[in-house]
Amino acid sequence: MAGVALKTFAARRLVHLSRFARPSLVPCLKLHTSASPLRMGASVEQFEEAKSKLSTLKNDPGNEAKLKIYALFKQSTVGCCSTARPGMLDFINRAKWDAWNALGDISQEDARQQYCDLIGSLVAAEGGSATSVGAQPAGSSSSQYETLLVTTENNITTIKLNRPTKKNAITTEMYNEIIAALEQASSDSSVITVITGAGDFYCSGNDLTNFTKIPEGGLEQMAKQGGELLRQYIKTYIDFPKPLVAVVNGPAVGVSVTVLALFDLVYATERATFHTPFSQLGQSAEGCSSYTFPKMMGHAKACEMLLFNKKLTAVQACDLGLVTEVFPDSSFQKEVWTRLKAYAQLPPNSLSLSKQLIRSTERELLHRVNDAEVERLTERWLSDECFNAVMNFFQGRAKL
Ligand code: COA
Repeated sequence: MAGVALKTFAARRLVHLSRFARPSLVPCLKLHTSASPLRMGASVEQFEEAKSKLSTLKNDPGNEAKLKIYALFKQSTVGCCSTARPGMLDFINRAKWDAWNALGDISQEDARQQYCDLIGSLVAAEGGSATSVGAQPAGSSSSQYETLLVTTENNITTIKLNRPTKKNAITTEMYNEIIAALEQASSDSSVITVITGAGDFYCSGNDLTNFTKIPEGGLEQMAKQGGELLRQYIKTYIDFPKPLVAVVNGPAVGVSVTVLALFDLVYATERATFHTPFSQLGQSAEGCSSYTFPKMMGHAKACEMLLFNKKLTAVQACDLGLVTEVFPDSSFQKEVWTRLKAYAQLPPNSLSLSKQLIRSTERELLHRVNDAEVERLTERWLSDECFNAVMNFFQGRAKL
């Protein structure tokens, strides 16, 4: 009862607050509303519960069911499928895309309901209870993601890049999954969202094999699809409504470095390095870095990184404002998580509203910078300079 009363009180406070939030003054106001029930279909809580139940299934439900689960999850968290169809040799992603696309324009609420019904029937088929309602265990991980480990614990949603053998290089699938995980985190009950990496690297940037997956429409189509995906990826960071923290557990390369300027806190181990070898790869700056880096570190230092591939140590990156604080490697995880757990106890709406105010002064500009960078990169990806650099990497001749 006390919980219900508190939620009702909280809901009234939100209504009260929103009456005074004049749309013209606060156009993109996003409040922390995860406790609110959905308009129809399954509630967020039921959806979360269904997700946790999925990982308890003892038997493999088979490919058809897995594709359906994937499609309903994407529709629930991202909405209708609007990305380009993967190339004909990319069998797995193409099958997943087809399943998602087949859902057409059903609403996210309906998709959540269908998702819960499907998981419920699979659980029931194994003799479990399809209807019991219980909280998702703290720290549970969503098995929907193939390239990420996503957990929510202590008011913190953690998105861990999980391709350690490839230094967490970001594949097309991983870009899509990070977008989905961030969308999910933006409306879940967490206060802070963290991105970190599994293994000894934070992230080695764009997976260069993305350039070898040529769709039916040829190189131009590949560049166009890649550009649209990058635009969406960066847009998700620009618009993210809650405090976003990078826990940089090791070296970072390329787009994983540039987007750091769109985070609210960047904690790095002393072992981390920061490298944007764009010109070495015949490419150009992205992640809004053509704007954020000169603003943050001054023109000359930004050019050293973005034009001349200078690799920074963690301490240098901290001195230039890209990193908030550097920690000894031996105590990095302990110190950072202790601090984040304390921050995550702060009032969520106060945090997210302040974050949105800070971002609102430059949001439109950042979107314009993103568009311009993507346009230039889409051309670069078709250039001989880029083609030769990527070939060199795979022939083991590039020294980055
Ligand atoms: N794209 C594709 N594969 C990548 C990758 C990337 N960005 N980064 C690492 N990998 C792969 C390597 O090919 C290797 O695969 P393999 O085991 O099948 O051969 C594996 O990850 C481990 O990398 P390796 O190079 O052996 O590790 P390392 O510690 O010697 O070097 C890097 C790590 C990140 C410095 C090096 O792999 C590198 O320079 N990668 C390219 C980074 C890059 O240019 N990113 C794009 C920026 S715009």
